Amino acid sequence: MSMTITFLGHSGFLLSDGTWTVAIDPFLTGNPRAVHKPEEITCTHIALTHGHADHMGDTVALAQANDATVIGAFEIANFVAEQGVKSTEPGNPGGKIELPFGWIAFTQAFHSSSFQGRYMGMPCGLVISLGGEVFYHAGDTGLFSDMTLIGEIYKPSVAALPIGDRYTMGPELATRAAEMIKPRTAIPIHYGTFPPLVQSAEKFTPQGVDVRELKPGDSWIVS
Ligand code: NI
Ligand code: MN
Repeated sequence: MSMTITFLGHSGFLLSDGTWTVAIDPFLTGNPRAVHKPEEITCTHIALTHGHADHMGDTVALAQANDATVIGAFEIANFVAEQGVKSTEPGNPGGKIELPFGWIAFTQAFHSSSFQGRYMGMPCGLVISLGGEVFYHAGDTGLFSDMTLIGEIYKPSVAALPIGDRYTMGPELATRAAEMIKPRTAIPIHYGTFPPLVQSAEKFTPQGVDVRELKPGDSWIVS
């Protein structure tokens, strides 16, 4: 059992166990640092943290091209269904959904969530169990002390944390977040994509946690 993590750039990932592949926040079109074209992505599921355009990204086109199930907040699931997505799994913070590869749990995130002026429900973090590993994607969020609880309850081996500042935690607060969650490895995300965001991860320096900077297109096998 293993989890292969491929970074799509910004906050986007593919997580695969070889049979099932979950795309998270697949923002490719319009992402200046993405190296994948949407037509190169193969996935069975698409999980969304919230409705902002830099996270919804290519979701509808990818879901239709791959016959993939979209997992996200209730309002996001309704929206993509209206856009023609056939299979959705709606949820909300605190909830957990059993899926063929494992499960996805929704956590809180301190942020906002809208798309083209429409309310997209609560922003969320996602905890994903796949390939015998647990991956926590914090979404876009500020620091909150219940991150300690997320660490205690789900024991993620890997945490992807936004460090870009302005709209989310910056590197100093994300360092505190990683030290509270205590994953084996933390992956910095949501930085360097656009000029207003922090451009480097050099100030993301949690004690006792390995930091793994992935470039868009990089893959890493967790086992
Ligand atoms: Ni956002
Ligand atoms: Mn964002």
